[in-house]
Amino acid sequence: MCGIIGVVALPGRTPYRPSLMVYRGLLRLEYRGYDSAGVAAVAPGRDKLIVLKGKGKIEELEKKLGFSQIDGFTLIGHTRWATHGVPNDINAHPHTDCTGRIAVVHNGIIQNYRELKESLVKKGHVFRSDTDTEVIPHLVEEFYKTSSSLYEAFRRAISVIEGSYAIAMVSTIEPGKIFFAKKDSPLVIGLADGFNLLASDIPAILEYTRRVIIVHDGEIGYITPDTVYIEKLGAGPVAWEKRVRIVDWSLEDATKGGYPHFMIKEILEQPRALQDTFFGLSRDPAVEEAVKLLLEARRIYITAAGTSFHASLYYSLLTSTLAGIPVIPFIASEYKIYANTAGHRDVLIVVSQSGETIDSLMALRAFRERDAKIIAVSNVIDSAIPRESDVAIYTRAGPEIGVAATKTFTTQTLALSWLAISHAEKTGGLTESEAGELRKILEEAPRQAMVSITNTESYAKQLSEWMATKTNTYYLSRGIGVPVAMEGALKLKEIAYIHAESYPAGESKHGPIALVEPEFPVVFTIPNDEELEKLLLGNIKEMKARGAVIIGVAHEKTILSDQLDIWLKTPTTHWILTPITHTPPMQLLAYYTAVKKGYDPDKPRNLAKTVTVE
Ligand code: M6R
Repeated sequence: MCGIIGVVALPGRTPYRPSLMVYRGLLRLEYRGYDSAGVAAVAPGRDKLIVLKGKGKIEELEKKLGFSQIDGFTLIGHTRWATHGVPNDINAHPHTDCTGRIAVVHNGIIQNYRELKESLVKKGHVFRSDTDTEVIPHLVEEFYKTSSSLYEAFRRAISVIEGSYAIAMVSTIEPGKIFFAKKDSPLVIGLADGFNLLASDIPAILEYTRRVIIVHDGEIGYITPDTVYIEKLGAGPVAWEKRVRIVDWSLEDATKGGYPHFMIKEILEQPRALQDTFFGLSRDPAVEEAVKLLLEARRIYITAAGTSFHASLYYSLLTSTLAGIPVIPFIASEYKIYANTAGHRDVLIVVSQSGETIDSLMALRAFRERDAKIIAVSNVIDSAIPRESDVAIYTRAGPEIGVAATKTFTTQTLALSWLAISHAEKTGGLTESEAGELRKILEEAPRQAMVSITNTESYAKQLSEWMATKTNTYYLSRGIGVPVAMEGALKLKEIAYIHAESYPAGESKHGPIALVEPEFPVVFTIPNDEELEKLLLGNIKEMKARGAVIIGVAHEKTILSDQLDIWLKTPTTHWILTPITHTPPMQLLAYYTAVKKGYDPDKPRNLAKTVTVE
């Protein structure tokens, strides 16, 4: 949901021209939004701002405008996912004040921008765009008239805006500084020698430094080439030195590494991501702390959005199966209804790969207000959701750049399975040795994911030729397989733009089967569980009788093999690994279908990787 990058440097101290660093950072951030982009730089004479921006993809804009060729040592850049104001050249960021001396980029939403704009217009300010962001440079310009410094004016401006924001600002008034502020939208500072950086996420700056400071909510400040100043708005300076982290992600993690798209790289990376996550979980005291909270809980809720919700649903089914304890799953944006019923003895688990999804964060805060305890499951260390939780469990998938979640889903289900097993062991749902056995099975996850990918990739590719000609599909399963089927359907929808509906297969006869006609594709997720397989037999037969083409994602020894028109063969292993063995073939099918249709799977239309607006 918009990406921000900033570089402030001493001449001759950066590995590339600073504008090239900004351009490369923008390319890395493009997954966050890609309808328009822009760069502002303080020109070398320091008395003029250069602002280049426009509608379109970053590489096209680079050819047209030459972002990477700008001279200057203080620069900010932005890639946009439109909220207020249609994507066009004028609404693209950066936005400037009336004098053209202040330029601002912003990720988030300024909720009170209408009132602010009205009062600024009355004072004579002239607005050019339809964005909420444009109020910020005008506010700073206005406050600067009565402030002792630009920073004071910036601070006063930030104090009057309401909403969510990560903001970066440059100005000719103080040319060697990038000012920033953060609330509810991510922002990190990168520390280097002779230059410093600012960005929406770590992969954007990983090429230049591993030393980062995660900016917290309510913090504002500025960076120069060799200093950092951070303060808590209204509470004075922050001792940031203790917060410097050395990131262990490799640069390779943040690049395509020779693959045509991040998505395929990330699908194929799943064995490694699962290995790292398993290794981390088996040593993480957070799991024990989380189990302690769960054991004391009166009720357990779990919430998330999109793919993370499917992982959450899986957890809720698993916990009721293994521990016999009900878990209430809900879609994060619906939090109000659920928070209404929560109290101090309840626990909410919030699952979010980015740790920044605003719906999930709002759910967390609503439950927190009612004194519930919070457990986070996230892929991004120190992001907002884990930070605001009582306990944080991390997946170790590495950065996920493709908009479609892949490796973060399988690693989330691994972490949540580990949690469910550890919980069930303590409630008596599982004996110690049963729990130990299941953990051993989880240890096989990386290998089983690898076998599944190897067995199915070329079939999924062949099948995509046919799938690309379709407009509607069903993704069905039963029991533990349902969230996995839902995830398969979401992949096809979001990147191949094919309508894919998913529901528990028993529902077909209550309505959806009316749509089925000859050649209608129905993808069945078939877990390795004889009871479920028997139940699915009837569901497959009723679809076949209407001429549907049955695509089975099923293990090698399934009793349903003679029912399948197309078989994506997964390894025969315990049903608890169903998300890990059965999701990759469906990810591959979606990926190759999107490619076949000529779409860019990394940047699906209308979507952004992290949704930081409600
Ligand atoms: O970062 P989060 O896990 O909180 O993100 C939640 C969803 O926005 C995300 O899973 C989304 O559904 C993906 N595009 C799915 O591929």
